[in-house]
Amino acid sequence: MKAEIIINKDYTIGEIDGRIYGSFIEHLGRAIYSGIYEPGHETADEMGFRKDVIELINKLNVPIVRYPGGNFVSGYNWEDGTGDRSKRPKRVECAWEVTETNEIGIDEFQEWAKRANTEIMMAVNLGTRGPADAKNLLEYCNLDTDTYYANMRRGNGFDKPFGIKTWCLGNEMDGPWQICHKTAEEYGRVATETAKLMKMTDPSIELVACGSSNYDMPTFGEWELTVLDHTYDYVDYLSLHQYYGNEKNDTLDFIGKSVHMDMFIKGVAAICDAIKAKKHAKKQINLSFDEWNIWFHSHGTTFDRWCIAPPQLEDIYTFEDALLAGCILMTLQNNCDRVKMACLAQLVNVIAPIMTEKGGKAWVQSIFWPFMYASAYGRGETMNTIVRSEKYATDYSSEVPYLASSVVHNAEKREIVLFAVNRSLDEDMDLSLSFSGFENCRPVKHVELYHDDMKAHNSAEEENVAPTEREIMGSLSLRKHSWNMIVYQY
Ligand code: AHR
Repeated sequence: MKAEIIINKDYTIGEIDGRIYGSFIEHLGRAIYSGIYEPGHETADEMGFRKDVIELINKLNVPIVRYPGGNFVSGYNWEDGTGDRSKRPKRVECAWEVTETNEIGIDEFQEWAKRANTEIMMAVNLGTRGPADAKNLLEYCNLDTDTYYANMRRGNGFDKPFGIKTWCLGNEMDGPWQICHKTAEEYGRVATETAKLMKMTDPSIELVACGSSNYDMPTFGEWELTVLDHTYDYVDYLSLHQYYGNEKNDTLDFIGKSVHMDMFIKGVAAICDAIKAKKHAKKQINLSFDEWNIWFHSHGTTFDRWCIAPPQLEDIYTFEDALLAGCILMTLQNNCDRVKMACLAQLVNVIAPIMTEKGGKAWVQSIFWPFMYASAYGRGETMNTIVRSEKYATDYSSEVPYLASSVVHNAEKREIVLFAVNRSLDEDMDLSLSFSGFENCRPVKHVELYHDDMKAHNSAEEENVAPTEREIMGSLSLRKHSWNMIVYQY
Protein backbone atom coordinates (compact mmCIF):
# COMPACT_ATOMS: atom_id res chain seq x y z
CA MET A 1 0.00 0.00 0.00
CA LYS A 2 1.20 3.53 -0.78
CA ALA A 3 0.47 6.83 0.94
CA GLU A 4 1.72 10.38 0.71
CA ILE A 5 2.00 13.43 2.95
CA ILE A 6 2.72 16.92 1.63
CA ILE A 7 4.09 19.43 4.13
CA ASN A 8 4.53 23.13 3.47
CA LYS A 9 6.21 25.41 6.02
CA ASP A 10 3.57 28.13 5.57
CA TYR A 11 0.55 25.90 6.10
CA THR A 12 -0.18 25.36 9.76
CA ILE A 13 -3.24 24.55 11.83
CA GLY A 14 -2.02 26.35 14.93
CA GLU A 15 0.15 26.28 18.02
CA ILE A 16 -0.31 23.26 20.26
CA ASP A 17 -1.30 24.15 23.81
CA GLY A 18 0.79 21.80 25.96
CA ARG A 19 -2.27 21.21 28.14
CA ILE A 20 -3.64 18.78 25.53
CA TYR A 21 -1.28 16.32 27.22
CA GLY A 22 -3.22 16.56 30.49
CA SER A 23 -4.64 13.72 32.55
CA PHE A 24 -7.09 13.04 35.34
CA ILE A 25 -7.08 11.65 38.87
CA GLU A 26 -10.43 10.99 40.50
CA HIS A 27 -11.27 9.72 43.95
CA LEU A 28 -12.13 6.41 42.37
CA GLY A 29 -10.88 2.86 42.84
CA ARG A 30 -7.14 2.75 43.50
CA ALA A 31 -6.26 5.98 41.68
CA ILE A 32 -5.37 7.78 44.90
CA TYR A 33 -5.24 5.12 47.61
CA SER A 34 -2.45 2.65 46.71
CA GLY A 35 -2.04 4.52 43.41
CA ILE A 36 -0.38 7.89 43.94
CA TYR A 37 -0.59 7.56 47.73
CA GLU A 38 0.58 4.62 49.79
CA PRO A 39 2.23 5.45 53.10
CA GLY A 40 4.51 2.60 54.07
CA HIS A 41 5.40 1.75 50.47
CA GLU A 42 9.16 1.47 50.05
CA THR A 43 9.21 4.45 47.67
CA ALA A 44 6.79 6.64 49.69
CA ASP A 45 7.99 10.12 50.56
CA GLU A 46 7.35 11.90 53.87
CA MET A 47 3.74 12.60 52.81
CA GLY A 48 3.06 9.05 51.69
CA PHE A 49 3.25 9.76 47.95
CA ARG A 50 4.79 6.99 45.86
CA LYS A 51 7.95 8.24 44.21
CA ASP A 52 8.03 5.34 41.73
CA VAL A 53 4.64 6.54 40.40
CA ILE A 54 5.77 10.16 40.25
CA GLU A 55 8.83 9.09 38.26
CA LEU A 56 6.61 7.46 35.63
CA ILE A 57 4.25 10.44 35.56
CA ASN A 58 7.22 12.72 35.00
CA LYS A 59 8.12 10.64 31.94
CA LEU A 60 4.68 11.47 30.55
CA ASN A 61 5.27 15.18 31.24
CA VAL A 62 1.64 15.88 32.13
CA PRO A 63 1.10 19.65 32.48
CA ILE A 64 -2.39 19.56 34.01
CA VAL A 65 -4.36 17.01 36.04
CA ARG A 66 -8.12 17.17 36.57
CA TYR A 67 -9.23 16.54 40.18
CA PRO A 68 -11.17 15.30 42.25
CA GLY A 69 -13.74 13.97 39.74
CA GLY A 70 -15.48 12.83 37.63
CA ASN A 71 -18.73 11.49 38.99
CA PHE A 72 -17.22 11.65 42.48
CA VAL A 73 -17.26 15.44 42.57
CA SER A 74 -21.06 15.70 42.34
CA GLY A 75 -21.49 14.41 45.90
CA TYR A 76 -18.26 15.76 47.40
CA ASN A 77 -17.83 18.14 50.34
CA TRP A 78 -14.40 19.63 49.67
CA GLU A 79 -14.01 20.63 53.34
CA ASP A 80 -13.88 16.91 54.26
CA GLY A 81 -10.45 16.73 52.65
CA THR A 82 -8.90 19.66 54.51
CA GLY A 83 -7.32 20.23 57.93
CA ASP A 84 -6.56 17.78 60.74
CA ARG A 85 -6.50 14.35 59.13
CA SER A 86 -7.46 12.55 62.34
CA LYS A 87 -10.75 14.44 62.35
CA ARG A 88 -11.74 13.88 58.72
CA PRO A 89 -15.05 12.09 58.21
CA LYS A 90 -15.42 8.80 56.40
CA ARG A 91 -18.30 9.16 53.95
CA VAL A 92 -20.60 6.99 51.93
CA GLU A 93 -19.52 7.79 48.35
CA CYS A 94 -22.60 7.20 46.21
CA ALA A 95 -21.14 7.75 42.73
CA TRP A 96 -18.90 4.68 42.93
CA GLU A 97 -20.60 2.92 45.90
CA VAL A 98 -17.54 2.93 48.15
CA THR A 99 -16.36 4.51 51.40
CA GLU A 100 -14.26 7.65 51.04
CA THR A 101 -11.81 8.08 53.91
CA ASN A 102 -10.81 11.64 52.97
CA GLU A 103 -7.21 10.93 53.91
CA ILE A 104 -6.35 12.87 50.76
CA GLY A 105 -8.02 16.14 49.85
CA ILE A 106 -7.01 19.39 48.19
CA ASP A 107 -4.47 20.11 50.98
CA GLU A 108 -2.47 17.03 50.07
CA PHE A 109 -3.27 16.88 46.36
CA GLN A 110 -1.76 20.29 45.68
CA GLU A 111 1.43 19.09 47.41
CA TRP A 112 1.41 16.01 45.18
CA ALA A 113 0.86 18.18 42.07
CA LYS A 114 4.05 20.10 42.85
CA ARG A 115 5.97 16.84 43.06
CA ALA A 116 4.46 15.67 39.76
CA ASN A 117 5.32 19.02 38.07
CA THR A 118 1.74 19.60 37.11
CA GLU A 119 -1.08 22.11 37.50
CA ILE A 120 -4.50 21.22 38.87
CA MET A 121 -7.72 21.48 36.86
CA MET A 122 -10.15 21.66 39.77
CA ALA A 123 -13.78 20.59 39.47
CA VAL A 124 -16.51 22.01 41.72
CA ASN A 125 -19.59 20.18 42.91
CA LEU A 126 -22.68 21.38 41.04
CA GLY A 127 -24.62 18.25 42.00
CA THR A 128 -25.42 18.26 45.71
CA ARG A 129 -23.90 21.71 46.13
CA GLY A 130 -23.82 25.00 44.25
CA PRO A 131 -22.41 28.51 43.76
CA ALA A 132 -21.67 29.33 47.42
CA ASP A 133 -19.55 26.23 47.99
CA ALA A 134 -17.72 26.74 44.72
CA LYS A 135 -16.90 30.29 45.78
CA ASN A 136 -15.77 29.13 49.23
CA LEU A 137 -13.47 26.51 47.74
CA LEU A 138 -12.04 29.08 45.34
CA GLU A 139 -11.41 31.46 48.24
CA TYR A 140 -9.74 28.63 50.17
CA CYS A 141 -7.48 27.80 47.23
CA ASN A 142 -6.68 31.13 45.64
CA LEU A 143 -7.23 34.17 47.86
CA ASP A 144 -4.68 35.97 49.99
CA THR A 145 -7.37 37.93 51.87
CA ASP A 146 -7.92 38.13 55.62
CA THR A 147 -11.24 36.28 55.28
CA TYR A 148 -12.81 33.10 56.61
CA TYR A 149 -11.81 30.47 54.02
CA ALA A 150 -8.40 31.97 53.18
CA ASN A 151 -7.72 31.99 56.93
CA MET A 152 -8.97 28.41 57.18
CA ARG A 153 -6.29 27.44 54.65
CA ARG A 154 -3.64 29.31 56.64
CA GLY A 155 -4.85 27.57 59.80
CA ASN A 156 -4.32 24.26 57.99
CA GLY A 157 -0.68 25.16 57.40
CA PHE A 158 -0.75 26.74 53.94
CA ASP A 159 0.14 30.37 54.11
CA LYS A 160 0.42 30.89 50.37
CA PRO A 161 -2.62 30.39 48.12
CA PHE A 162 -2.52 27.35 45.83
CA GLY A 163 -3.13 29.48 42.73
CA ILE A 164 -5.37 27.11 40.76
CA LYS A 165 -6.12 28.67 37.40
CA THR A 166 -8.50 26.22 35.70
CA TRP A 167 -11.90 25.23 37.12
CA CYS A 168 -14.60 22.88 35.83
CA LEU A 169 -18.21 23.80 36.55
CA GLY A 170 -19.37 20.35 37.64
CA ASN A 171 -19.04 17.06 35.79
CA GLU A 172 -21.21 15.37 33.16
CA MET A 173 -24.34 17.11 34.44
CA ASP A 174 -26.39 15.80 31.48
CA GLY A 175 -25.92 12.17 32.61
CA PRO A 176 -28.83 10.49 34.46
CA TRP A 177 -26.17 8.60 36.47
CA GLN A 178 -24.80 11.88 37.81
CA ILE A 179 -25.64 12.76 41.41
CA CYS A 180 -28.26 15.53 41.06
CA HIS A 181 -28.26 15.37 37.27
CA LYS A 182 -29.78 18.43 35.61
CA THR A 183 -31.59 19.45 32.48
CA ALA A 184 -29.69 21.76 30.12
CA GLU A 185 -31.78 24.72 31.33
CA GLU A 186 -31.15 23.93 34.99
CA TYR A 187 -27.44 23.40 34.44
CA GLY A 188 -27.11 26.44 32.17
CA ARG A 189 -28.56 28.68 34.88
CA VAL A 190 -26.57 27.30 37.81
CA ALA A 191 -23.34 27.19 35.78
CA THR A 192 -23.84 30.82 34.77
CA GLU A 193 -24.44 32.04 38.32
CA THR A 194 -21.56 29.94 39.67
CA ALA A 195 -19.27 31.25 36.94
CA LYS A 196 -20.22 34.86 37.72
CA LEU A 197 -19.60 34.42 41.43
CA MET A 198 -16.31 32.61 40.88
CA LYS A 199 -15.02 35.25 38.48
CA MET A 200 -16.07 37.98 40.95
CA THR A 201 -14.02 36.15 43.57
CA ASP A 202 -10.97 35.61 41.36
CA PRO A 203 -11.11 37.17 37.87
CA SER A 204 -7.85 35.47 36.84
CA ILE A 205 -9.36 31.97 36.64
CA GLU A 206 -10.55 30.13 33.54
CA LEU A 207 -13.80 28.16 33.54
CA VAL A 208 -14.93 25.04 31.74
CA ALA A 209 -18.67 24.42 31.25
CA CYS A 210 -19.93 20.85 30.91
CA GLY A 211 -20.69 19.69 27.41
CA SER A 212 -22.37 16.34 26.85
CA SER A 213 -21.02 13.23 28.57
CA ASN A 214 -20.47 11.71 25.15
CA TYR A 215 -21.56 11.97 21.55
CA ASP A 216 -24.24 9.28 21.94
CA MET A 217 -26.22 11.10 24.61
CA PRO A 218 -29.76 11.68 23.27
CA THR A 219 -29.44 15.33 24.32
CA PHE A 220 -26.09 15.88 22.55
CA GLY A 221 -26.23 19.06 20.51
CA GLU A 222 -29.30 20.50 22.20
CA TRP A 223 -27.43 20.37 25.49
CA GLU A 224 -24.46 22.33 24.11
CA LEU A 225 -26.71 24.93 22.44
CA THR A 226 -28.76 25.56 25.59
CA VAL A 227 -25.82 25.54 28.00
CA LEU A 228 -23.81 27.93 25.83
CA ASP A 229 -26.80 30.19 25.33
CA HIS A 230 -26.72 30.73 29.10
CA THR A 231 -23.00 30.60 29.86
CA TYR A 232 -21.30 32.02 26.76
CA ASP A 233 -20.16 35.31 28.28
CA TYR A 234 -18.89 33.79 31.50
CA VAL A 235 -16.97 30.65 30.56
CA ASP A 236 -13.85 30.00 28.51
CA TYR A 237 -14.14 26.37 27.45
CA LEU A 238 -16.76 23.73 26.79
CA SER A 239 -15.94 20.15 27.76
CA LEU A 240 -16.11 16.99 25.64
CA HIS A 241 -15.88 13.46 27.00
CA GLN A 242 -15.61 10.23 25.02
CA TYR A 243 -14.50 6.68 25.72
CA TYR A 244 -14.09 4.06 23.01
CA GLY A 245 -14.30 0.29 23.18
CA ASN A 246 -13.81 -2.72 20.94
CA GLU A 247 -16.95 -4.53 22.08
CA LYS A 248 -17.46 -5.99 18.59
CA ASN A 249 -13.88 -7.34 18.54
CA ASP A 250 -13.35 -5.74 15.14
CA THR A 251 -9.85 -4.29 15.17
CA LEU A 252 -10.04 -2.30 11.95
CA ASP A 253 -13.29 -0.68 13.04
CA PHE A 254 -11.89 -0.01 16.52
CA ILE A 255 -8.60 1.63 15.53
CA GLY A 256 -10.49 3.92 13.14
CA LYS A 257 -12.53 5.45 15.96
CA SER A 258 -10.32 8.54 16.17
CA VAL A 259 -12.12 9.62 12.97
CA HIS A 260 -15.32 9.64 15.03
CA MET A 261 -13.56 11.79 17.62
CA ASP A 262 -12.47 14.25 14.94
CA MET A 263 -16.08 14.57 13.77
CA PHE A 264 -17.24 15.05 17.38
CA ILE A 265 -14.70 17.85 17.98
CA LYS A 266 -15.57 19.64 14.75
CA GLY A 267 -19.28 19.35 15.53
CA VAL A 268 -18.90 20.87 19.00
CA ALA A 269 -16.68 23.67 17.63
CA ALA A 270 -19.43 24.43 15.09
CA ILE A 271 -22.03 24.58 17.87
CA CYS A 272 -19.83 27.02 19.83
CA ASP A 273 -19.54 29.17 16.72
CA ALA A 274 -23.28 29.05 16.06
CA ILE A 275 -23.89 30.57 19.50
CA LYS A 276 -21.06 33.04 18.90
CA ALA A 277 -22.82 34.23 15.74
CA LYS A 278 -26.21 34.33 17.43
CA LYS A 279 -24.81 36.49 20.22
CA HIS A 280 -22.76 38.70 17.88
CA ALA A 281 -19.85 37.82 20.17
CA LYS A 282 -16.17 38.50 19.60
CA LYS A 283 -15.09 35.88 22.07
CA GLN A 284 -14.42 32.31 20.94
CA ILE A 285 -15.20 29.36 23.19
CA ASN A 286 -12.45 26.76 23.01
CA LEU A 287 -12.67 23.09 23.83
CA SER A 288 -11.47 21.07 26.79
CA PHE A 289 -11.55 17.36 25.89
CA ASP A 290 -11.16 16.59 29.55
CA GLU A 291 -12.00 12.87 29.51
CA TRP A 292 -10.84 10.56 26.72
CA ASN A 293 -9.61 7.00 26.65
CA ILE A 294 -10.41 3.41 25.82
CA TRP A 295 -12.74 1.95 28.44
CA PHE A 296 -14.53 -1.38 28.09
CA HIS A 297 -12.27 -4.20 29.33
CA SER A 298 -13.32 -3.76 32.96
CA HIS A 299 -17.08 -3.42 32.32
CA GLY A 300 -18.98 -5.88 34.50
CA THR A 301 -16.31 -6.39 37.18
CA THR A 302 -17.76 -6.44 40.68
CA PHE A 303 -16.65 -5.51 44.21
CA ASP A 304 -18.18 -5.25 47.68
CA ARG A 305 -20.28 -2.11 48.12
CA TRP A 306 -18.96 0.50 50.58
CA CYS A 307 -15.48 -0.97 50.85
CA ILE A 308 -12.44 1.29 50.72
CA ALA A 309 -10.53 1.82 47.45
CA PRO A 310 -11.32 -1.46 45.68
CA PRO A 311 -9.87 -2.14 42.22
CA GLN A 312 -12.35 -0.40 39.92
CA LEU A 313 -12.09 0.28 36.18
CA GLU A 314 -8.70 -1.47 36.04
CA ASP A 315 -8.66 -2.01 32.29
CA ILE A 316 -5.63 -3.91 31.04
CA TYR A 317 -4.71 -2.33 27.74
CA THR A 318 -3.77 -4.28 24.64
CA PHE A 319 -1.51 -3.40 21.74
CA GLU A 320 -4.52 -2.40 19.59
CA ASP A 321 -5.65 -0.02 22.37
CA ALA A 322 -2.26 1.69 22.07
CA LEU A 323 -2.82 2.13 18.33
CA LEU A 324 -6.13 3.87 18.95
CA ALA A 325 -4.65 5.99 21.78
CA GLY A 326 -1.90 7.05 19.33
CA CYS A 327 -4.52 7.99 16.69
CA ILE A 328 -6.52 9.95 19.29
CA LEU A 329 -3.45 11.96 20.26
CA MET A 330 -2.91 12.83 16.59
CA THR A 331 -6.55 13.92 16.40
CA LEU A 332 -6.04 16.24 19.36
CA GLN A 333 -2.90 17.68 17.74
CA ASN A 334 -4.72 18.13 14.43
CA ASN A 335 -7.48 20.05 16.23
CA CYS A 336 -5.12 22.26 18.23
CA ASP A 337 -6.81 25.40 16.92
CA ARG A 338 -9.86 24.56 19.09
CA VAL A 339 -8.83 21.93 21.64
CA LYS A 340 -6.67 23.72 24.18
CA MET A 341 -6.86 21.16 26.98
CA ALA A 342 -7.40 17.41 27.02
CA CYS A 343 -7.17 14.81 29.77
CA LEU A 344 -6.29 11.18 29.32
CA ALA A 345 -8.77 9.66 31.79
CA GLN A 346 -7.26 8.57 33.95
CA LEU A 347 -3.62 8.50 35.12
CA VAL A 348 -3.05 5.75 37.70
CA ASN A 349 -4.81 2.36 38.11
CA VAL A 350 -8.23 3.55 36.95
CA ILE A 351 -8.39 3.22 33.10
CA ALA A 352 -4.79 4.30 33.25
CA PRO A 353 -1.40 4.20 31.53
CA ILE A 354 0.28 3.59 34.91
CA MET A 355 -0.57 0.67 37.20
CA THR A 356 0.60 -0.17 40.70
CA GLU A 357 0.74 -3.23 42.88
CA LYS A 358 -0.14 -2.49 46.47
CA GLY A 359 3.18 -2.83 48.30
CA GLY A 360 4.86 -3.67 44.99
CA LYS A 361 5.85 -2.39 41.59
CA ALA A 362 4.58 0.40 39.39
CA TRP A 363 4.41 -0.58 35.72
CA VAL A 364 3.30 0.87 32.41
CA GLN A 365 0.52 -0.19 30.07
CA SER A 366 0.63 -0.22 26.26
CA ILE A 367 -1.10 3.19 25.99
CA PHE A 368 1.70 4.79 28.02
CA TRP A 369 4.03 4.81 24.99
CA PRO A 370 2.15 6.84 22.36
CA PHE A 371 1.22 9.33 25.10
CA MET A 372 4.82 9.65 26.27
CA TYR A 373 6.14 10.33 22.76
CA ALA A 374 3.29 12.70 21.82
CA SER A 375 3.89 14.70 24.99
CA ALA A 376 7.68 14.74 24.56
CA TYR A 377 7.84 15.46 20.81
CA GLY A 378 4.44 16.91 19.98
CA ARG A 379 5.22 20.46 21.06
CA GLY A 380 5.12 23.35 18.63
CA GLU A 381 2.68 23.93 15.79
CA THR A 382 0.65 21.34 13.93
CA MET A 383 1.14 21.46 10.16
CA ASN A 384 -1.84 21.53 7.83
CA THR A 385 -0.78 18.67 5.60
CA ILE A 386 -2.26 17.08 2.53
CA VAL A 387 -2.62 13.36 3.16
CA ARG A 388 -3.25 10.84 0.40
CA SER A 389 -4.20 7.41 1.62
CA GLU A 390 -6.57 4.61 0.72
CA LYS A 391 -9.66 4.49 2.90
CA TYR A 392 -12.09 1.99 4.35
CA ALA A 393 -15.67 2.23 5.62
CA THR A 394 -17.04 1.59 9.12
CA ASP A 395 -20.41 2.12 10.78
CA TYR A 396 -19.44 5.61 11.91
CA SER A 397 -17.57 6.78 8.79
CA SER A 398 -17.40 5.91 5.12
CA GLU A 399 -13.89 7.34 4.93
CA VAL A 400 -11.36 6.06 7.46
CA PRO A 401 -7.87 6.52 6.00
CA TYR A 402 -5.46 3.62 6.45
CA LEU A 403 -2.87 6.26 7.31
CA ALA A 404 -3.56 8.21 10.50
CA SER A 405 -1.07 11.06 10.87
CA SER A 406 -0.12 14.37 12.39
CA VAL A 407 2.93 16.52 11.72
CA VAL A 408 4.29 18.86 14.38
CA HIS A 409 6.87 21.56 13.69
CA ASN A 410 9.09 22.60 16.59
CA ALA A 411 10.83 25.71 15.27
CA GLU A 412 13.06 26.10 18.31
CA LYS A 413 14.50 22.63 17.87
CA ARG A 414 14.40 22.84 14.04
CA GLU A 415 12.46 19.59 14.12
CA ILE A 416 9.49 18.21 12.24
CA VAL A 417 7.87 15.23 13.90
CA LEU A 418 5.61 12.83 12.08
CA PHE A 419 3.26 10.67 14.14
CA ALA A 420 1.73 7.95 12.01
CA VAL A 421 -0.32 4.78 12.36
CA ASN A 422 -0.65 2.33 9.51
CA ARG A 423 -4.13 0.96 10.22
CA SER A 424 -3.88 -1.79 7.64
CA LEU A 425 -3.92 -5.18 9.34
CA ASP A 426 -2.13 -6.98 6.55
CA GLU A 427 -0.10 -4.58 4.40
CA ASP A 428 3.00 -2.51 5.06
CA MET A 429 2.77 1.06 3.80
CA ASP A 430 5.30 2.90 1.63
CA LEU A 431 4.99 6.47 2.75
CA SER A 432 6.41 9.32 0.72
CA LEU A 433 6.81 12.72 2.33
CA SER A 434 7.49 15.98 0.56
CA PHE A 435 8.66 19.01 2.50
CA SER A 436 8.47 22.47 1.06
CA GLY A 437 10.19 25.36 2.83
CA PHE A 438 12.35 23.16 5.04
CA GLU A 439 15.84 22.87 3.62
CA ASN A 440 17.94 19.75 4.11
CA CYS A 441 15.23 18.01 6.03
CA ARG A 442 16.47 14.57 7.08
CA PRO A 443 15.15 11.82 9.32
CA VAL A 444 17.16 11.33 12.51
CA LYS A 445 14.99 9.02 14.60
CA HIS A 446 12.28 6.45 13.98
CA VAL A 447 10.45 4.93 16.95
CA GLU A 448 7.98 2.12 16.32
CA LEU A 449 5.38 0.40 18.47
CA TYR A 450 4.52 -2.95 16.97
CA HIS A 451 3.33 -6.36 18.05
CA ASP A 452 2.19 -9.38 16.03
CA ASP A 453 -0.59 -10.02 18.51
CA MET A 454 -3.20 -7.24 18.66
CA LYS A 455 -4.23 -8.45 22.13
CA ALA A 456 -0.71 -8.44 23.62
CA HIS A 457 -0.52 -6.50 26.88
CA ASN A 458 1.87 -5.66 29.68
CA SER A 459 1.73 -6.73 33.32
CA ALA A 460 3.79 -6.14 36.45
CA GLU A 461 5.98 -9.06 35.36
CA GLU A 462 6.27 -8.59 31.61
CA GLU A 463 6.64 -5.60 29.30
CA ASN A 464 5.38 -7.22 26.09
CA VAL A 465 4.35 -4.01 24.40
CA ALA A 466 7.19 -1.52 24.24
CA PRO A 467 8.63 0.76 21.55
CA THR A 468 11.79 0.03 19.59
CA GLU A 469 14.06 2.29 17.54
CA ARG A 470 14.17 1.43 13.87
CA GLU A 471 17.07 1.98 11.56
CA ILE A 472 16.68 5.07 9.35
CA MET A 473 16.37 3.98 5.72
CA GLY A 474 16.34 5.95 2.46
CA SER A 475 12.63 5.35 1.99
CA LEU A 476 9.98 5.18 4.69
CA SER A 477 7.94 2.07 5.23
CA LEU A 478 5.37 1.74 8.03
CA ARG A 479 4.83 -1.79 9.14
CA LYS A 480 1.26 -3.15 9.05
CA HIS A 481 -0.71 -2.18 12.20
CA SER A 482 2.09 -0.12 13.71
CA TRP A 483 2.39 3.22 15.50
CA ASN A 484 5.40 5.32 14.48
CA MET A 485 7.17 8.54 15.31
CA ILE A 486 9.74 9.85 12.86
CA VAL A 487 11.79 12.90 13.80
CA TYR A 488 13.24 15.04 11.00
CA GLN A 489 15.73 17.84 11.48
CA TYR A 490 16.46 20.69 9.13
O1 AHR B 1 -13.42 8.44 34.22
C1 AHR B 1 -14.43 7.63 34.75
C2 AHR B 1 -15.79 8.31 34.76
O2 AHR B 1 -16.21 8.49 33.45
C3 AHR B 1 -15.84 9.70 35.34
O3 AHR B 1 -16.00 9.70 36.71
C4 AHR B 1 -17.04 10.30 34.67
O4 AHR B 1 -16.95 11.68 34.54
C5 AHR B 1 -17.13 9.57 33.36
O5 AHR B 1 -18.40 9.07 33.12
